[in-house]
Amino acid sequence: MELIKFVDISRFHLPLRNKLHEAAIRVIDSGAYIKGPDVKIFEANLAQWMGVEEVCGTACGTSALWAALKGLGVKAGGEVITTVHTAIATAEAITLCGATPVFCDLEPGYFFLSAQEVEKKITPRTQAIVPVHLYGQPVNLDDFLELGRKYGIPVIEDCAQAQGARYKGKYVGTQSDAAIFSFFPSKNLGGFGDGGAFTTKDLDKMNWMRMFSNHGRSEKYDHEFEGINSRLDTLQAALLNVCLPYLDQWNESRRQVALWYDEGFADVEEVTIPQVLPETEPIYHVYVVLVPDRDGLREYLRANQIQTGIHYPIPLSLQQAYSYLNQGAGSFPLAEEACARMLSLPMHPALDREEVERVVDTVKEYLVR
Ligand SMILES: Cc1ncc(COP(=O)(O)O)c(C=O)c1O
Repeated sequence: MELIKFVDISRFHLPLRNKLHEAAIRVIDSGAYIKGPDVKIFEANLAQWMGVEEVCGTACGTSALWAALKGLGVKAGGEVITTVHTAIATAEAITLCGATPVFCDLEPGYFFLSAQEVEKKITPRTQAIVPVHLYGQPVNLDDFLELGRKYGIPVIEDCAQAQGARYKGKYVGTQSDAAIFSFFPSKNLGGFGDGGAFTTKDLDKMNWMRMFSNHGRSEKYDHEFEGINSRLDTLQAALLNVCLPYLDQWNESRRQVALWYDEGFADVEEVTIPQVLPETEPIYHVYVVLVPDRDGLREYLRANQIQTGIHYPIPLSLQQAYSYLNQGAGSFPLAEEACARMLSLPMHPALDREEVERVVDTVKEYLVR
C-alpha cells in the first residue's frame, strides 16, 4: 500500500524543479545572499499580487508579527487580544513586545476566535487585536474591524496560514491596519527554509517596521534605533519568486481536495467537516475534521499508510509557557473540546481524487468497526 503523505511539498514543486534550480544557482553564483536584488523583486511582486502598496520580507512570520505589533504601538505593559487556538508564534510575538497575550475562545462552530469574546476582554490596556485566519479559513473580519474602530485599537491579521484566502472578494491581509505572512515550507506559499512578510497601508509605520527588521537601520551603519535581524534571504526571495505565480492555482487545487473530502463525508454523521463563513474563500492550509475517538482513528490511518496531523493538540492556555496566566482546564471550553477531537487529514495541491477517496474510505471503515 502506498503512503499518503500529510504534505508532499516536493511532489507539487516537481513541475517547477528546473526553474527553482536555475534561481538557486543564480543566487549562489551572485554572492549577494543578503539584500540581493531578488528580495526587492519579490516584495514588489507580492505587493502587486495582493493589491497593496508595499510588502516587506522578513526572516520568518514570527518576527514579521513582532515588527507589526511594535510598529502599531504595542509596548511593555500592554495587552494584545488573540485566539487561544493558534500556533504559539502568534502569542510569542506579543510577549516579545513586552505585552501580555489575552486569549479568547472560538467562534461557535468554527476554529477561529470569536469577535464577541474579544470585545469582552477589551480593557484600557488593550493595544491590538490579532485575529488569526487559522487553517486558511478567513475570520469574519468586518466584526474585528468594527471593534477596532469602536475602541480605537489596531487590528493586525495573522495570515500565516491564509496566503491567498479571500474575505468579501479581497485577499486577507489587505483590509486591516497590518498583516503578516509566513513562508515556512509547508505554508501555502512555502519557501525552502524560513521566511515571512508584513504589510501595512501606513507608509510611515511600514518604514519603521522595515527598519526594525534590519537593525533599526536607515542606511548602512546608520542606526536610528535598535531593531532585530529579520531579513528575508535573497535565496528564499528568488525561490519564492518562482512559486508565487502558482499560488492561486495551488490554492484552487486545495479547494478541490477539500470539496472531495466534504462530499466524501457528507453522509458520515460522526465526522464534522470544516464550516466556511459566507463571503469567504478559504485556502485550506490544512483540512481539519472533528471526530470521535480521534487518537484511535489516527492510529488506524497510520497503520493504513495515511499520515495525519493535529493542529493543535493543546490550547495555548494549557501550555506550560502560559501557566503564569493561570487559565486552567475549563477556561476555554470550545477550544479545549475542539483540540481533543480534531484531526488534520492529508492536504496539499497535488493530492488526487483516488487518494482522497482512500482517506475517506479508511476513515469510514474505522467508524463502522
Ligand atoms: C498562525 C501562525 N502564526 C504565525 C506563525 C509564525 O510563522 P513562522 O513559522 O514563519 O515564524 C505560524 C507558523 O507556524 C502560524 O501558523
